[in-house]
Amino acid sequence: MRNIILAIESSCDETSASIIIDGKVINNVIATQSIHENYGGVVPELASRAHQQNIVPVVEESLKNANIKKSDLNAIAYTKGPGLLGALLVGSSFAKSMAYALDIPLLGVNHMQAHILAHFIEEPKPKFPFLCLTVSGGHTQIVKVDDYLTMEIVGETKDDAVGEAFDKCAKILGLPYPGGPLIDKYAKLGDPRKFTFPQTTMDGLNYSFSGIKTAFLYFLRDQVKEDKDFIANNLNDLCASIQYTLIQMLLKKVIAASKQFNIKQIAIAGGVSANSGLREALTEQVSRRQWQVFIPKMEYCTDNAGMIAMAGHFQYLNQKFDSLTETPEPRMQF
Ligand code: KG4
Ligand code: ZN
Repeated sequence: MRNIILAIESSCDETSASIIIDGKVINNVIATQSIHENYGGVVPELASRAHQQNIVPVVEESLKNANIKKSDLNAIAYTKGPGLLGALLVGSSFAKSMAYALDIPLLGVNHMQAHILAHFIEEPKPKFPFLCLTVSGGHTQIVKVDDYLTMEIVGETKDDAVGEAFDKCAKILGLPYPGGPLIDKYAKLGDPRKFTFPQTTMDGLNYSFSGIKTAFLYFLRDQVKEDKDFIANNLNDLCASIQYTLIQMLLKKVIAASKQFNIKQIAIAGGVSANSGLREALTEQVSRRQWQVFIPKMEYCTDNAGMIAMAGHFQYLNQKFDSLTETPEPRMQF
């Protein structure tokens, strides 16, 4: 019998559904919520409402595209946390109702673990143990991955996530939300060494990104006093320089973690892993340090249900089921 799982992701501002059959992701349907662009960030209440509107068509499309009937499903996987409570509630209520109606098991997935397990959707796949730099709008973690469901956070940010730093710096530059991809775009045309910004250092393998955003703000405030067109005249160089600084901060700790654990397989995951500067810098390390680097396809970097399906598959094999009385965990830990 084939093992068929429907997966649902609704932790932030993407409503997504995926079908996985015997560990192979068949599709990954994503509805992006553009409404938040008008507000300079994700508005939780609007995200919940958009999930409510999108979830039925997204799930229907995923089933139809895979040529699967609801009665064919063996389990439903959903994002249990971390994420926005209202957004998580839409996905979890939907998944629970469906699992109850079909009388099949429910799999509550940790969104951050799923970002890492996105590496098992396609070849090449890392071997255990490997280190994963998980970088998103809400998290910055270095994770030691010992097995599909055995992972340990060995370093993390003590304040802002690096995605937040990208988005806040973009906002200071007057760019719309989410600013990370725009910084990436303009950085390609700029000089990364034109401006230097102080890098905050933290103990061990931990990070801090709140200081750099403030330094960036004060630097620009002073420059704009002298030349009101400073940002417009230097946009590409500013983007390249701030991106370069953030990437250097990220890589320093990854290099330290690689040495500390003597692990040379390095993966990246999460929305910021879509950043071309980070992808290039990591790839460059391969020849210098004989690392093996694993970078997911763009589609599986930002939030998507394909990765929830992959995590759901491994949880299903381990019989790690949720009861119907479980509730979402906005601050879910590993
Ligand atoms: O993983 P994700 O899609 O959602 C969360 O779970 O947070 O990550 C979203 C974050 C945002 O901060 C966004 O600006 C950032 O990923 N991001 C990027 C790029 N693409 C997405 N940051 C820098 N460069 C990119 N190309
Ligand atoms: Zn995410």
